[in-house]
Amino acid sequence: MEQKIQELRTRADEAIKNSATLKELDEVRVKFLGKKGELTSLLRGMNQLSAEERPRVGKIVNEARAQLENLIAEKNSSLKSAQLEKKLATEKIDVTLSGRKIYAGHLHPLTLTLNRVKEIFVSMGYSVEEGPEVETDYYNFEALNLPKDHPARDMQDSFYITEEILLRTQTSPVQARTMERHKNNEPIRMIAPGRVYRRDDYDASHSPMFTQVEGLVIDKGISFADLKGTLEDFSKKIFGEKTKIRLRPSFFPFTEPSAEVDVSCVMCHGAGCKVCQGTGWLEILGAGMVHPDVLKMSGYDPAEVSGFAFGMGIERIAMLTYGLDDMRLLYDNDVRFLQQF
Ligand code: DAH
Repeated sequence: MEQKIQELRTRADEAIKNSATLKELDEVRVKFLGKKGELTSLLRGMNQLSAEERPRVGKIVNEARAQLENLIAEKNSSLKSAQLEKKLATEKIDVTLSGRKIYAGHLHPLTLTLNRVKEIFVSMGYSVEEGPEVETDYYNFEALNLPKDHPARDMQDSFYITEEILLRTQTSPVQARTMERHKNNEPIRMIAPGRVYRRDDYDASHSPMFTQVEGLVIDKGISFADLKGTLEDFSKKIFGEKTKIRLRPSFFPFTEPSAEVDVSCVMCHGAGCKVCQGTGWLEILGAGMVHPDVLKMSGYDPAEVSGFAFGMGIERIAMLTYGLDDMRLLYDNDVRFLQQF
């Protein structure tokens, strides 16, 4: 019996030593110490021994078991740390690798242009007013001296929702809406930015939706000189100090007299180039002295006060200040384009 134990020990020691993996080591444990393992069956065989021998041999077996358990535990921890070593050596984390960039986005070039326009007028003491994009026929046309059969309506064919409700074709309806909120010929100095809609093509210079800024000033003694001075000042601020303006006679039903306002070309400064088609001038807005009937319809007395108004397209101003040759760039939302601002 003792010999058998000795021989088992030798084989077990050897097997533990030679285990190369945790799995192999566990197989060795089961083989010798498991329920059906060799040492366990040796213990079972003890009932064949004499009563005197049993305690002695029992002690040897138990000692052998304890020693084998120790050896296995030691081997187990050394295999585990070897495994960790190996993992650390092979699975390197490169902490110097730069992180992934998070794109924060920024304001759209149209918004930047609109903000600049607002800033300029607010610095001159204007308030910023708003009106609905879904507008009534009354505010969009009639209150602006464009009765139902007026031929000038043809220039602004719109998207009608009903006979009386449409997507506004201009920001001018905010004029009447703002005047109605004031009483007793109260002075007004306001701009009204926003989207407008017209039945139109979608090409390099047209879009069925675009952005306008309306302007309206009403007070005692407002003259055409005030209009010209204001627009000149604005043009210099937005296009540069050297900018000149030119007013050409025009027609709008809501102003009398009316004018188209040109600025000296932002590219060639008046010499003539492709952008201004050789003329040296670029048309940027419509303006005029508020028609007495328009004042009257919204509760102002044209005998007491006078006013001027203007309306400009923001896309046009953005295209000129950023040197864009296609309006669609502003709507396509191509990140390669937008990233440049
Ligand atoms: N509403 C005009 C348009 O969309 C622009 C305009 C012209 C506005 C003259 C005005 C103005 O206030 O006085 O074509």
